[in-house]
Amino acid sequence: MADATPDWIDIGGIDDIPARGARTVRTGGKPVAVFRTADDEIFALIDRCPHRGGPLSEGIVSGKSVACPLHNWVIDLDGGQARAPDVGCAPAIAVKLVDRRIFLAADAFAEAPGPTAAERGQTA
Ligand code: FES
Repeated sequence: MADATPDWIDIGGIDDIPARGARTVRTGGKPVAVFRTADDEIFALIDRCPHRGGPLSEGIVSGKSVACPLHNWVIDLDGGQARAPDVGCAPAIAVKLVDRRIFLAADAFAEAPGPTAAERGQTA
């Protein structure tokens, strides 16, 4: 059985992110926005608003949420769900803080999978 425990990658110190701010991290897949709250909590979401793809990393962090800079949807940092009445989700990335260093789940850095043989129109 595969080990379900993710490996972690150090992406920098918490002090590299301003309080109530964010930075983006380039991964093999989509860019990830890493947020720091006023209470020094860290959250990571795919940097794409569930409304029309706005850059959440450029939004305003308030408490444990971020307001998208394009149309002001409010997204919960803890899980990525849009607050009602809006509906949608920015996928959350596992993140942890150890001794003021930020670690992202290594899964976030995996290359996006390519098309399957069936999707390429190939047969076995
Ligand atoms: S793109 Fe984020 S609120 Fe519209």
